[in-house]
Amino acid sequence: MKLAFWKKGEDTAGQVDFSRLPRHIAIILDGNGRWAKRRGLPRTAGHKVGAETFRTIATCCRDIGIEYLTVYAFSTENWKRPEDEVDTIMVLLKKYLLEAIDTMERDNVRLRFMGDLTPLTAELKGLVAECNAISERLTGCLCSICINYGGRPELVHAAAGFAKDCQSGSVNPEDLTEEMLSGYLYSAGIPDPDLLIRPGGELRQSNFLLWQCAYSEFYFTDVLWPDFSREELYRAIAAYQHRSRRYGGLQEGST
Ligand code: FPP
Repeated sequence: MKLAFWKKGEDTAGQVDFSRLPRHIAIILDGNGRWAKRRGLPRTAGHKVGAETFRTIATCCRDIGIEYLTVYAFSTENWKRPEDEVDTIMVLLKKYLLEAIDTMERDNVRLRFMGDLTPLTAELKGLVAECNAISERLTGCLCSICINYGGRPELVHAAAGFAKDCQSGSVNPEDLTEEMLSGYLYSAGIPDPDLLIRPGGELRQSNFLLWQCAYSEFYFTDVLWPDFSREELYRAIAAYQHRSRRYGGLQEGST
């Protein structure tokens, strides 16, 4: 397989078939802390560079025509981290949202937020609301940022929403379908990810989009998130394009 022979710095764009890109790419932003530690820097320095990397990759996705990008920025478990680290991530998020409010219209990039946003500060909630309002007027690439997100809490939230609607009589329990349940998730209306990328060397899903990734192709790399580049993205897309997606069936033509 070609992938094994690729070297850093190689023109990985040349390996991508831009006529059949994944519609939806999901990314677990991992490795910021280790990136910083290797340089003798505080973990927060890794998050700062990680936020820049996110900008680069989101721009690249928009440029090449990826319709949906979803990133795992802060999990329901990340509150357990030291206060200064959580504060830094929230400050970076605020900075990003302020910039987005100024640029998303020009760039035609929509933003959406997945997760339980209730613990966020009133200021952050206000910025999220502004981004949502601007997004409603736009049609471009939909970038979803998962904050205080967990796949299991999302399923609990969806089940509670459905139960509530059953109670009010607007739906019947026996009518529940997969499509219907999908409509109660934070990701309602967004197609499932085609490709899930996890940088940082860990080989797990970490409670990210548990329902939505049922048939996603997974791509793992040792590259730490702050070092993730356009070339790495193209490498992941090219690897995805070598996969055979059978959704539990057989490949066409096979017996
Ligand atoms: C995981 O790396 C990363 C996080 C928990 C935070 C990610 C947040 C940002 C990049 C900043 C804000 C985001 C946006 C979208 C503007 P880690 O710290 O777990 O790395 P480690 O495994 O090396 O310790």
